[in-house]
Amino acid sequence: MDSIVVTGNGPLHGSIPIAGAKNACLTLMPATLLSDEPLTLTNAPRLSDIKTMTALLQSLGAEVSDLADGTVLAMSSHALDNHTAHYDIVRKMRASILVLGPLLARTGQAVVSLPGGCAIGARPVDLHLRALESMGADLDLRDGYVHASAPQGLKGGIVDFPLVSVGATENALMAATLAKGTSVIKNAAREPEIVDLAHCLRKMGAQIEGEGTAEITVQGVDRLHGATHPVVTDRIELGTYMLAPAIAGGEVELLGGRLDLVGAFVEKLDAAGVDVTETATGLVVKPRNGRVKSVDVTTEPFPGFPTDLQAQMMALMCTADGVAHLHENIFENRFMHAPELTRMGAQIEVQGGMAKVTGVARLKGAPVMATDLRASVSLILAGLAAEGETRVGRVYHLDRGYEHVVRKLSSVGAKIERVKDA
Ligand code: EPZ
Repeated sequence: MDSIVVTGNGPLHGSIPIAGAKNACLTLMPATLLSDEPLTLTNAPRLSDIKTMTALLQSLGAEVSDLADGTVLAMSSHALDNHTAHYDIVRKMRASILVLGPLLARTGQAVVSLPGGCAIGARPVDLHLRALESMGADLDLRDGYVHASAPQGLKGGIVDFPLVSVGATENALMAATLAKGTSVIKNAAREPEIVDLAHCLRKMGAQIEGEGTAEITVQGVDRLHGATHPVVTDRIELGTYMLAPAIAGGEVELLGGRLDLVGAFVEKLDAAGVDVTETATGLVVKPRNGRVKSVDVTTEPFPGFPTDLQAQMMALMCTADGVAHLHENIFENRFMHAPELTRMGAQIEVQGGMAKVTGVARLKGAPVMATDLRASVSLILAGLAAEGETRVGRVYHLDRGYEHVVRKLSSVGAKIERVKDA
C-alpha cells in the first residue's frame, strides 16, 4: 500500500486546476443505459471510482472507452446483454445502485446487489426502492439483491421523499425520463450534481422541469437519443483545495472554481477570516490576517454546508483561534478523522453527532491513518500546517475521489510525496 508524506512548509502560492465532479460523473455514466445511442462525457475526473463504474457498465454490456487521458468517456448501451449488477463490483462502490433506475426504465428488468454499508454509515437504499415502486416497479429483495421488474414499462408517479437523498433523487429522475406519463419528485435533492444530470438528460431528449428546486417534474418520453456533455466542476475538490491556503497561509487560485457551487462553505470561510474572490478563471483564496477564527458548522443538504467538506473544515478548525462546534447531520459515523487529528495534537471532543474542536496554535506531524475518502484528505490538509512530518497511510481511499493530489499541492509549494509502504 502507499502512504503520503507531507511536511509543514509554510504559505502556499500559485494555482490549482479543479477537475470534473466525481459525484456528477457517477450518476451521468449510468445515464448511458437509458439510450441505445452514444453518450459522451467530457471533463471527466480520473479516479478509481470512475474505473469501478466503467467496469460495472461494461458488465451489463455497455461499451465504455476512456479517451484523452481519461478525461473523455465515450459510452454506448446499444447492446445491453446482462441486467444483473453483481455484488463483487457493487460492494466496491455504493454509487453502483445508480444503475438500478436507468436499467429498469430501459429494459423493464434489473437485478442489483444491495450495496451494503460503508465506513461512514449504514447507507440504506430504501428511498431508491420506494421511488421506483411509486412508478409501478415490482421489487423483490432476496439473497442480497434487489430484483426489479416493470414488464409493461414504468409509469409516471408521485415520489414524495421523507428525507432528502441525492442518490435516490438521481435514480428517480433517470427512471422517470422513460416512464409513461408525468412524474413529480417532491423533497428532491438540490445538489449541483442533480442539476448537471438534468441538463445532460435534457440534451438526450428528456422533458424535465424544476431541477435544483425541491420539486422536479418529468414528462416521460418513448426514447432518449445520444448526447455529449461536460461534467460539472467538482465542488468538493474545490472546497478541499480552498482550505489549503486557509490552513497553511498564502494565496492560491482554484482554476474553474465557481462561487455558486460553494456558497454556504464560502460564508463559513468568510466568518473564519478567509477571503474568497471570484475571478474570470476561478476563485482566489487567502487568509485575511494570520490565524483563522473558530466558527460553528452544521452539515445539511445543498444549499447548506456539504457533509463532504466537514472533515476538511474540521482540519482548519483544529488550528483556529477559539472553539468550533461541528454538527454532522447527514451521516451517523463521519468523525473518524477526529482521533487521527488528535494524534497530531488537535483538541477534539466527539459527542454523538457533534464534534467540539478547541483550536491549538500549531499541530504536530505524526503517522496517521486514512479511514474514508474525505477523512484522508483532511489529514493531508492538517499536515500542510503541522510542524514536522505527517505520514498518511491507506491512501487508496484518497484515489477514489482526488486525482493527482501530490502534483496539485506540490505545484503551489507544499512539501508532499507519495511513498510505497515497506
Ligand atoms: C451522495 O451519497 C454522495 N455520493 C455522497 O458523497 C454525499 O456525502 C451524499 O450524497 C450527501 O451529499 C455520490 O453522489 C456518489 P444520500 P448518497 O442518499 O446519495 C440516508 C463522497 O464523499 N438515506 O443523500 O448515498 C443516508 O443514510 C460521498 O463523495 C436513507 O436513509 O447520499 C444518509 O443519512 C460520501 N435511505 C442520508 O439519507 C436511502 O435510500 C443522505 O444520503 C438513501 C439515503
